[in-house]
Amino acid sequence: MSVKIIINGAYGKMGSLLSEALMQTRDYHLLARCGRQDDLAAIIRQKKPDVVVELTSAEAVYANAKTIIEQGVKPLIGSSGLTLAQIEELEKISQEKKLGGIIAPNFSLGAILLMKYAEEIAHYYPQVEIIEMHHDYKKDAPSGTALKTAEMLAKTHCKTAPAVQSKESIAGATGCRHQNIAIHSLRLPGFIARQDVIFADQGETLSISHNLIDRKAMLPGMMLSLKKIQHLDHLVYGLENLI
Ligand SMILES: NC(=O)c1ccc[n+]([C@@H]2O[C@H](COP(=O)([O-])OP(=O)(O)OC[C@H]3O[C@@H](n4cnc5c(N)ncnc54)[C@H](O)[C@@H]3O)[C@@H](O)[C@H]2O)c1
Repeated sequence: MSVKIIINGAYGKMGSLLSEALMQTRDYHLLARCGRQDDLAAIIRQKKPDVVVELTSAEAVYANAKTIIEQGVKPLIGSSGLTLAQIEELEKISQEKKLGGIIAPNFSLGAILLMKYAEEIAHYYPQVEIIEMHHDYKKDAPSGTALKTAEMLAKTHCKTAPAVQSKESIAGATGCRHQNIAIHSLRLPGFIARQDVIFADQGETLSISHNLIDRKAMLPGMMLSLKKIQHLDHLVYGLENLI
């Protein structure tokens, strides 16, 4: 039997990409495509989906994620912008409801592998910084991927730039900090999504880089998430935990 899906934010770039892909497969049945004007809770109650894919915006994601979980439906959350406190809260509600779900800051395999190996490399280098580059109409900064990468780097012994004593003559010159990891965000036309992680020790640097040049690169990760989510009984934060 095919899995019944609603996409919220279905008319945006990511939502359109997934809508088209789902319409071409028999394994999934796209019940509804929701946008800004729709009452998500009412549509969930009416259509009774197995999964709601959330692809809207940083401002809307937390409220939408809560709505989906409170309706007892599995959320696949691709929107960026959730804080760690909000993720913990969503994990708690999911646990109470014994409900599976996925928060995926990045659906691309390359970006997930970058995060996974960056976490490993961080054991060997005392300093690291992140540069993330996105198209100039991306609404939030830093990106969800950069935040997640910083959280993964911070788990290891790596402490970012404690020795750097640069005094900022202009606020923000050395980037922002998330869990003590420096993140620099560029917003320029020409990029879709790129992230570099630069490690350093005395006399050397090591850089790893992922460059997404077509949003289609997100599709395999989205389809994998839809497959894996069916068997989950808790909320998973990050696709690196499922590949
Ligand atoms: N996880 C990933 O791999 C990944 C990749 C790219 C983008 N993103 C994130 O996914 C989200 C969507 O990205 P996009 O590039 O498709 O953006 P987009 O602006 O092209 O599309 C967002 C859509 O959501 C709609 N929307 C906004 N608020 C809404 C609400 N409250 N209810 C219903 N619909 C609403 C908008 O009208 C728009 O149609 C963003 O948060 C972005 O950062 C995640």
